[in-house]
Amino acid sequence: MIDGFDDDPLTGADAVPADRDLDNSLRPSTLQDFIGQPKVREQLELVLHAARARGRTPDHILLSGPPGLGKTSLAMIIAAEMGAAIRITSGPALERAGDLAAMLSNLVEGDVLFIDEIHRIARPAEEMLYLAMEDFRVDVVVGKGPGATSIPLDIAPFTLVGATTRSGALTGPLRDRFGFTAHMEFYEPSELVRVLTRSAVILGIDIDDDAAAEVAGRSRGTPRIANRLLRRVRDYAEVRGDGSVDVTAARAALAVYDVDELGLDRLDRAVLGALVRGFGGGPVGVSTLAVAVGEEPSTVEEVCEPFLVRAGMIARTPRGRVATAAAWHHLGLTPPPDAIDRVHGVRAREETLFD
Ligand SMILES: Nc1ncnc2c1ncn2[C@@H]1O[C@H](COP(=O)(O)OP(=O)(O)OP(=O)(O)O)[C@@H](O)[C@H]1O
Ligand SMILES: [Mg+2]
Repeated sequence: MIDGFDDDPLTGADAVPADRDLDNSLRPSTLQDFIGQPKVREQLELVLHAARARGRTPDHILLSGPPGLGKTSLAMIIAAEMGAAIRITSGPALERAGDLAAMLSNLVEGDVLFIDEIHRIARPAEEMLYLAMEDFRVDVVVGKGPGATSIPLDIAPFTLVGATTRSGALTGPLRDRFGFTAHMEFYEPSELVRVLTRSAVILGIDIDDDAAAEVAGRSRGTPRIANRLLRRVRDYAEVRGDGSVDVTAARAALAVYDVDELGLDRLDRAVLGALVRGFGGGPVGVSTLAVAVGEEPSTVEEVCEPFLVRAGMIARTPRGRVATAAAWHHLGLTPPPDAIDRVHGVRAREETLFD
């Protein structure tokens, strides 16, 4: 563990406790309110509209993408748009099939069951889910050993909404049972400006357009990070200025918190530094990189890497991760002549997130 990562969640996309309340107060509550993700919004609109017209529960929906892009918000919106109740659980909480059976058998027709981090669901629960998703039925096993019997139990038609930061880690049979997968993309700066403007109104923060653009550009394409940085620049403006946030205050605040021009945080920079300085630019495997920066491979892979790829700093190759010329430049170094030039953002992003 490199010193300071744990208590430096400023630009990490994961939610920290202080964010949870904020997440809730800033969460858009209708599809109309949901900023950005035009493709996902259109797809969802069709799925939900058609289901409503038919008077049926919508197909099961998988939401896939890096942390903080709005998966939980969308799950809640899906339920709200269908006028349905939402039950919330997560993959790690469903350790025993019995836990899931209890949730499933309590569902009322039309309910939305939201399973966050669904790729971390335990195997027995996953197998129970197959039958529940397909036939709205569970087999409850009673007793142990040779005398055990399984009792089939009907459950109410429901819509499963699963969220995952790693759709590649889902088993084929589970993935196949979703009628629709929404691939969430990083947000464009202009979309994050809208997120920030909306949040500023809700929180009563006075921020001008240039300052909002500055914060948006350094938010790693992630609304959760944008909202978090907004609070930090407000702090700065209140303590060092008159409370209103202009671009000078925003820049000064972001400098205090070590957020660089691209929005890379300390872990991002450590990963780049290890790749470039420690391994001559790669290729190197993600677990080796993770050891070098003292982090879990899953954190490096799910939290850092997608954005570094999108920013054109890292390329994924069959032999491992490679630093692009842009990464060397970003660290103030001269790239070797054979360094990959800026990778094409969209292609690289697809390879990373949706393999
Ligand atoms: N499209 C959006 N418009 C406005 N605000 C958004 C949008 N998407 C996300 N947010 C903001 O970002 C916060 C984080 O979103 P959310 O919790 O839905 O992300 P998530 O993808 O579920 O993250 P995680 O993977 O960490 O669970 C929300 O509280 C909300 O304030
Ligand atoms: Mg979430």
